Amino acid sequence: MDILQAIRSRKSIRGFKPDPVPKEVLREILQIATRAPSAMNTQPWNITVVTGKALDNIRKGNIEMLAAGVTPNPDLPFTPYHGVYRQRQVDLAIQIFKLMGIAREDKAKRAEWRQRGYRFFDAPAAIILSMDRSVDKLVSHLDIGALMQTICLAASDYGLGTCIANHGIMFPEVVRRFTPIPESDEIVISIAIGYPDWDFPANKLETEREPLENLITWCGFA
Ligand SMILES: Cc1cc2nc3c(=O)[nH]c(=O)nc-3n(C[C@H](O)[C@H](O)[C@H](O)COP(=O)(O)O)c2cc1C
Repeated sequence: MDILQAIRSRKSIRGFKPDPVPKEVLREILQIATRAPSAMNTQPWNITVVTGKALDNIRKGNIEMLAAGVTPNPDLPFTPYHGVYRQRQVDLAIQIFKLMGIAREDKAKRAEWRQRGYRFFDAPAAIILSMDRSVDKLVSHLDIGALMQTICLAASDYGLGTCIANHGIMFPEVVRRFTPIPESDEIVISIAIGYPDWDFPANKLETEREPLENLITWCGFA
């Protein structure tokens, strides 16, 4: 697939076919994606690929935590968004709920959707990116971001869909219980990966982007 086509066509996939993704395919994608740049070529990423029973256990553990009302405690915490950023977040939820036929006041269906995120959207596999806590946090997060997007782009060449997923790693203790990720690693992000179910309503979502002229400041041009 042409690189520009891959960038244009990549979108978050939140509904997958149950078909497993062959280990060899995942390996090839990661082999290619780890060509991503990193500061001083430090490659501060550790990659854990989870499927089968291990992934099911994480899903189950996450749902149990939610059901027990445990407050999510991700390794990489984030503060709530405000202003235009919050508005974009709300707009996204409105678009997804509309496609999924979830009414604003339907608490049960909204909770069900939330759980889906914590189940990695029922994807057959998930890629968890973590990094040694001893490396520089800020720069290494940029590096992991570069790898994250490169994985998603490479995956599309194999007909695979991805959704970068914060929700699945909101309870790091659950992830660690069923993977060998050590406490000395910060769990940064995960990617749900599998073959897209194109009939799944939320996969029809085409997210919007701010017009370029609102984002760019040109300097020194004639
Ligand atoms: C760091 C990061 C974390 C994300 N976490 C989630 C998540 O937990 N649940 C979810 O449904 N989407 C998640 N997404 C996907 C975004 O919602 C999505 O990328 C954005 O709405 C743009 O849509 P697109 O990917 O289809 O272009 C995440 C994306 C990023 C970059």
